[in-house]
Amino acid sequence: MHAQLQQALRQAKQQRQQLQQWRQVRCSDEQLLDFCSNDYLGLRHHPQVIKAYCEGLQNYGAGSGASPLVSGFQRPHRYLSERLAEWLEREAVVLFSSGFAANHSILTSLGSHYQQLLLDRLCHASLLDGAQASDCRWRRFSHNDSDAAARYADQHAATLLVTESIFSMDGDHASIAELVRACPQADCLVDDAHGIGILGEGGRSCAGQFSAAEVDYLTITFGKAFGVGGAAIACSFEVAEHLHNFSRELVYSTAFAAAQAQAINAALTIIQTAEGQALRDALQQNVEYFDALCQQYGLPITRQPAAIQILQLGAESSALQVSEFLRQHGIDCRAMRPPTVPAGQSRLRIVLSARHQSQQIKHLVEAIAAALEQAG
Ligand SMILES: Cc1ncc(COP(=O)(O)O)c(C=O)c1O
Repeated sequence: MHAQLQQALRQAKQQRQQLQQWRQVRCSDEQLLDFCSNDYLGLRHHPQVIKAYCEGLQNYGAGSGASPLVSGFQRPHRYLSERLAEWLEREAVVLFSSGFAANHSILTSLGSHYQQLLLDRLCHASLLDGAQASDCRWRRFSHNDSDAAARYADQHAATLLVTESIFSMDGDHASIAELVRACPQADCLVDDAHGIGILGEGGRSCAGQFSAAEVDYLTITFGKAFGVGGAAIACSFEVAEHLHNFSRELVYSTAFAAAQAQAINAALTIIQTAEGQALRDALQQNVEYFDALCQQYGLPITRQPAAIQILQLGAESSALQVSEFLRQHGIDCRAMRPPTVPAGQSRLRIVLSARHQSQQIKHLVEAIAAALEQAG
């Protein structure tokens, strides 16, 4: 490493350390109660999902061996994309190795064909980076402000609106209906990473509420409610073909394994059936129980409609202290700090799951109350 680089790295680290924003990967401890992963329905450990994965490994091997255009698109991938297209009522579905790749890909592949991209201020980093890397003018509108979006949309004929169904760091819903109504000429991309599988009838979330004419592109991810990993974009045939030809994330990257596609297929079956509905109901009951307990204990939690609940703490040190206190009480719940969230808005991101037992939720709330009391 040359001296200048070393100095730059040390300086960057020091700056973040001074701001209490330096982060380290910590191996997660399975003894702790998990209140931070996005495994909303508990499908990560579901026997049918694991069985499908194992069978996929036996039948197709550990990896896909190539990019989708070469030989990495195999029968389980085809079956999955066809099922998803039918379920989401879209012409086509394109599979990606991650939600980050999917969002980046669609904005960089299509961006130059729009005159402007309009992103909600709280959009995920993958959307922001995709917009930045596209050859298109882009700007952000205030969070959930459809009037502001409409004002900007009026300035250019070909606009793509970009938003999320549930915002990952705040847990609130986007007002997609209002946005679509306010900007009738614009196309719309919704990142449904945190809604798919858990919202709406049959877990279809946005796809159940909005037609392809209203929401042109949908990103869904398989690492959250599906409990596996990977992602997809639901769109028209024409856009799907374009992505297969122009998306660098697809053309120059190995496809996820067929075994993974089989596991996602198994998760989809659960989500579509009565068991999925029972899990969604259990999750909703847990959200309501958590909310009731927070009120009882006077915790300043803004009630959010789905699994992601936020305790705003402001300073980085406060968020770290509460998270550490919880760890000492057997709970894994991480502090979210800048640059993931805006400066001065460090917080605890609490994620509820269908699998949590009421006494575990009670333990969490009591531990948070004790942490806040200790912090004064
Ligand atoms: C809203 C949103 N979109 C996309 C992603 C990226 O998905 P993945 O984890 O599959 O890369 C995330 C993940 O945190 C997310 O919260």
